[in-house]
Formats: sequence, structure tokens, C-alpha cells
Amino acid sequence: MSHESVQRMKISAGDLTEVESKVAIVGLYEKPKVEGPLAKLDRGSGGLLGAAVRDGDFKGEKGETLLLLATRGKAKRILLVGLGARDALDAERIRVCAAAAARKCRDAGFAQATALLFGQGSPVSADEAAQAFAEGAILGTYRYVEYHTEGAKDRKLLKKIDVLVPDRKILAEAKPGLQRGVRIAEATNYTRTLAAHPGNHATPSFLASEARRIAKEQRLKATVLDRARMEKLGMGALLAVSQGSDQPPYLILLEYDCGDRSAPTVALVGKGLTFDSGGISIKPAAKMDEMKYDMCGGAAVLGVMSAVRDLEIPVNVIAAVPASENLSGASAYKPGDVLKSYSGKTIEVLNCDAEGRLILADALSYVARKHKPDAIVDMATLTGAVIVALGHYGAGLVSTDDELAADLVEAAERSGDRIWRLPLWEEMNDHLKTDFADLKNIGDGSAGAGTIVGGAFLSNFVDGIPWAHVDIAGTAWWDRDRPHLPKGPTGYGVRLIVDLLRNWKK
Ligand code: BES
Ligand code: MN
Ligand code: ZN
Repeated sequence: MSHESVQRMKISAGDLTEVESKVAIVGLYEKPKVEGPLAKLDRGSGGLLGAAVRDGDFKGEKGETLLLLATRGKAKRILLVGLGARDALDAERIRVCAAAAARKCRDAGFAQATALLFGQGSPVSADEAAQAFAEGAILGTYRYVEYHTEGAKDRKLLKKIDVLVPDRKILAEAKPGLQRGVRIAEATNYTRTLAAHPGNHATPSFLASEARRIAKEQRLKATVLDRARMEKLGMGALLAVSQGSDQPPYLILLEYDCGDRSAPTVALVGKGLTFDSGGISIKPAAKMDEMKYDMCGGAAVLGVMSAVRDLEIPVNVIAAVPASENLSGASAYKPGDVLKSYSGKTIEVLNCDAEGRLILADALSYVARKHKPDAIVDMATLTGAVIVALGHYGAGLVSTDDELAADLVEAAERSGDRIWRLPLWEEMNDHLKTDFADLKNIGDGSAGAGTIVGGAFLSNFVDGIPWAHVDIAGTAWWDRDRPHLPKGPTGYGVRLIVDLLRNWKK
């Protein structure tokens, strides 16, 4: 698996006007004044910079960019980037503007750039600014080109960004932020590439082998339960979903020990449905290819785990990825079938396309019983209904625990992985009643609120442990291009969960 993006970022203290570079990136607030260091850059540009500002060619509006010649200075080109109003600057804007700048440099053919860290003199700390800058640059230049056999030579690549801060005091604050940002962005790009990887290659076995590789790299314990083991354990829900496919299913488990015995344990569960045809309740043909992305929850969990030790996450983590295909082979499960889940609860299948909740049910109750974590967070591309409710801009949150939900909302605000809480009214469970089993896998016609019903179903499998469900069906991918979110898979959830775990309240 491979992708392209900015490969290296270095940070040091220095003066942008004194450093040799092919292009110097400068972020400016709105209505900039050409004075101080900017005046010096202006001289290097032979007055072009001052003229651009005076004549209104560059206003400093957020996301605006302008590339100038500066052959008389140490930088050969200057890229001006608008940051908007100084007081309104936040980490998200730095991410977006860094992404816009990095893409502009790449597309103009620069292999290296030197940038003055955005956000000086703003409400954003140097640590936070450096993290956001690195995230923006690395996320924004992401490109998945694994299966393009032509054109590799012509592709432009921005390989390195040197980031400058004014002095050593700021450097001490910014450096850990930059390194963290690089690591988080790389983990997010890894998640994107897992997601983009086509379904014929990204099978459940492939996810299992990736998990084993991650375990080696991050010193984690890996356990992969195969079909025989799951049969012994009685995971009738997960196994039923996999019945219609020749690809064997797995329940993939990774354990991270943070080294502190008194630290809490958080379980992360991610839906790893490597292709969802809908099974016997088959989906329409149009856009069915997009259902290769139905493993984005699992990919996000693996992304977090791929950097968990590097990031020195301060809590213990149990990761579980139930991995399966949902196809309609001759042995496929059928509407009307009654399954016995690992929890012991029986489930009547009324729609084979509501398969995510079935594989999650067994994974959730397995981690709840076996590991008794202090909290469980699952991520899943569970319902089309969440796109109706929130579009592609935010994930839906359903939770049994107000504190965990509030922590996720805060983590979303900081990380930029947006979330919106939906209510889990207890009456929703009434819509899951059936004459033939303990539960059925879809709500009756009158329930509406598909995302909440999906969450209500899952809430039956967490043994009362504080739990939150993040429905990422809308946020995990989009075919609309945004600066730090190029079209395709977004890697949603990696930044959210890393932030949640880093700031876990003990
Ligand atoms: N993987 C889909 C949900 C999905 C839909 C993700 C669109 C991304 C984009 C899930 O397995 C599914 O099919 N859900 C059904 C549930 C329904 C049958 C209750 C849905 O949303 O239609
Ligand atoms: Mn489905
Ligand atoms: Zn699905």
C-alpha cells in the first residue's frame, strides 16, 4: 500500500528573509501592512509584494494565496497565504491554510518550501499551531496513486517543508506540536489509504495482516480470532454476516499497554466490513463501488493504533475490528433468520443490509466481557440516514454516557473531526421488538431516525459500560475536494480519537 504526501517537516528558529529557499510561505492576517520583516521580503521581491497588497491583489482573506517572484532575496519566490482576521484564527483555520499553501507549492512544482509558522500573535498557542500546520500540509497533499501505472514521472511532489519560528523559546513550545502533528497526519493518511484500497485486495485477511504489522511496529499484543475460534465462542451474529462470502471473517484485536497500571482502559471498536453488497437484501448497482469504504471505522481504529505508542497515549487501549464481507453467496444469511449473538441475545434478521450492527454486536460484547474496559467507543459507517441528518460535514454521536459524549464533542472541536450528538430516547428500543427473537436488526417502519435506531440496537451489547457510537457513514469519505480533505477517504476519526485519548480525564 502506498500514497504520496509531504514526506518531511523540520522546525527551527530563524529569520525567513535570511534563509535560502525556492519558495517562502508567509501567512498574513487580513489588511496586512508592509512593515518590519514584510518590508524586507518586499525588497526581495523588488516591490511586487507591497504593490500586490496596496493594489488589493492580496487582501489576506482566509485561504487566499498569491505567488510572487522575489529574485532579489534569499527566497526565490514568495507565497502569500491569507489567514483572515487575527482574533478569529483557530487551529482549524491553520490546518486549512497550511493545506492550501502546501498544495499550491506542490502544483507550482516546488519540491521544497520554507514557511514561517502561521498564528504568531494569535489566540492559538505555538504547540497547537505547529500541530495544525503539520496536519494541514500532510493531509492536504495526500494522493492515492497506488494503481496508476502511468504518469508517475510527471507527478509533482512537495517533499519537504522547513518551518521557521522567530526564536528558541517559541521553538521549544512548537517542536513537540509539529512532531505530533506529523505523526497524527501520517496515521490519518494511512487510514485513508487502507480505505481507498480496493475491496479485492483489502479483504478481512488483509486487515488482519495489517494489524499484525502494526502490532510489531508499536509493540502491541495482536490476537486474530478466526472462524473456528468464533464458532467455539458462539459469535453467531458476526459469522452469519460472513456466510455469503468465500473470504473468511476475522475478529482482530490489538492491545496497547501504556505502562501505567492505574490508567484506565478504553476500548475502540471499528466496523471492518470490507465490502457491503447488502447481501440478500442487495443494494442498487449505482455507486455500489463505494461500499468498499464500509471498513472506514476499522481503518480509523487501525490508524490510531498505528501511532499509539509513538504518540505516548496515556491510557490503555483495546482495539477490536470485526472484519467481514457482506455478499449473497449460496450460504448467505437470509431475512427471517434468527441468530444467536455472542452476548446470548437472539436477533431476527429483517434486512441483510443492516449487517454492520450485527458484526459490531459481537465485537462490542466480546470486549465488554473479556476486558471490562472503563469506556467503549465504536466508529462505523452504519447508516445512510446520518448523511440525511448531517451531510458529510459531521459524524453522528449516540451515547449512553453524558461525560463521554461531552469529551467527544470537545475532542471534535479541537481536532476538526466534527461530531453532533443525537438523542438516545429509551422508547427507540421498543421499535426493535419482534415476536421471533429478543431483538430484530432494523426498526419497524414507524421508528424513523435510522441512525438513532442503529445506535439503540448497539446499546444492547455493551453490558452497561459507558459507551459512545460514532456513525461515520457521511464523514469517512466524500467526492468533494476540500483543502486538507482531498476528495475520497478522509481518515475521519483518527484525529478525533487521538485527541480524546490524549486528553482523557483520569
Ligand atoms: N454500510 C451501510 C451504510 C452506508 C450507507 C454507509 C451509505 C455509507 C453510505 C450499512 O450497512 C447499511 O446498509 N445500512 C442501511 C441500514 C438499513 C437497512 C436499516 C442503510 O443505511 O440503508
Ligand atoms: Mn449494509
Ligand atoms: Zn454496511
